[in-house]
Amino acid sequence: MSAAWEADVRLVAGLREVHEQVERRTIGAGALAVGAVGLGCMPMSWAYSGSRQRGDESLRCVHRALDLGADLLDTADMYGPFTNELLLGRVLRERRADAFVSTKVGLLVGEQHVVANGRPGYVRRACDASLRRLQTDVIDLYQLHRADPEVPVEETWGAMADLVRAGKVRALGLCAVGARGGRRSRGALHDTTLRQLRRVQQVFPVSAVEAELSVWSREALETLLPWCETRGVGLLAAMPLGNGFLTGTLRPGEGFEPDDLRARHPRFTAEMMAANQPIVAGLRRIARRHGEDVTPAQVALAWVLAQGRNVVAVPGAKQERWAVQNAAAAGLRLTGEDLAEVAALPPALGSWD
Ligand SMILES: NC(=O)c1ccc[n+]([C@@H]2O[C@H](COP(=O)([O-])OP(=O)(O)OC[C@H]3O[C@@H](n4cnc5c(N)ncnc54)[C@H](OP(=O)(O)O)[C@@H]3O)[C@@H](O)[C@H]2O)c1
Repeated sequence: MSAAWEADVRLVAGLREVHEQVERRTIGAGALAVGAVGLGCMPMSWAYSGSRQRGDESLRCVHRALDLGADLLDTADMYGPFTNELLLGRVLRERRADAFVSTKVGLLVGEQHVVANGRPGYVRRACDASLRRLQTDVIDLYQLHRADPEVPVEETWGAMADLVRAGKVRALGLCAVGARGGRRSRGALHDTTLRQLRRVQQVFPVSAVEAELSVWSREALETLLPWCETRGVGLLAAMPLGNGFLTGTLRPGEGFEPDDLRARHPRFTAEMMAANQPIVAGLRRIARRHGEDVTPAQVALAWVLAQGRNVVAVPGAKQERWAVQNAAAAGLRLTGEDLAEVAALPPALGSWD
């Protein structure tokens, strides 16, 4: 057992004396109860270094997250594509009752590109395929991954609402992340999302919005989170660890494998990673005040959770030790001094486009 792993276990043991399981939060019109920290399953099959994707370790990671009450498993048909849902199916067939399953529809992976498809017939077929892969008969949260510019979003959402009526899906969500392309500012990105949200709300209630939210990407706090808060809609905070940067475990200049999205990401050049170290140093300072075993990753997650009672953090991980550490972050309470210190951290450098 490594020293780091032992430290994670000690930490979780300490915090669980107070918090038996990860704190529960309630989201959406249907008052869905979920662990405040969930598990983003994307790194197990998509976006990050392919050579490090190991099925068995990922399975252990999912099981451990469920053991600790970090029950929101966030996947998508396009992760892999398809293999991430297949992997989760291997867990869900044994312990469906322990999990809150969130998957997504609306993006198709081609040879070198990803395209949106929001046609109702496609949505119906994609849902049946996801159910088969996940080895379940109901999806707790079905999210529209991206709106299809060729299809009115009401049509796509209407088809998703029919899936709720058919009992295949319990609630609907909309993703507001990823469309950073071009020169559009992040504020404008959320304007588009808010317009979509207003339109789909006329058709069927939105239970959750998944958007990037982290110490170094706070745009969702401006308009999106207030919109969600006033309507009881959950905000699933994607990329709460800044794609790993905020954990302080990535070294500037170490580089990424060519199939890792961060290899082409402007904030992950050696220069920008070095320039943004003061952010990690700030998180580390705060962590130290809470105990020698507390990590910058946990402070980053606790900060996300402190942004609203309707926020659920969805850290991505494929390593069991991270699942343990991240679940324990739900028991970490930041003080006013901590929050003021995070607010005073320098803004992140490096384009996000
Ligand atoms: N709706 C959307 O369009 C959308 C877009 C992006 C992401 N998401 C969702 O959001 C989730 C989270 O985003 P993300 O995975 O891209 O980024 P993230 O959560 O910010 O960071 C994930 C990375 O951090 C590492 N990590 C996790 N916990 C750690 C810890 N305690 N200490 C050190 N390193 C740690 C993971 O390592 P290992 O992989 O080695 O375990 C992984 O490489 C995704 O998994 C996905 O479910 C949704």
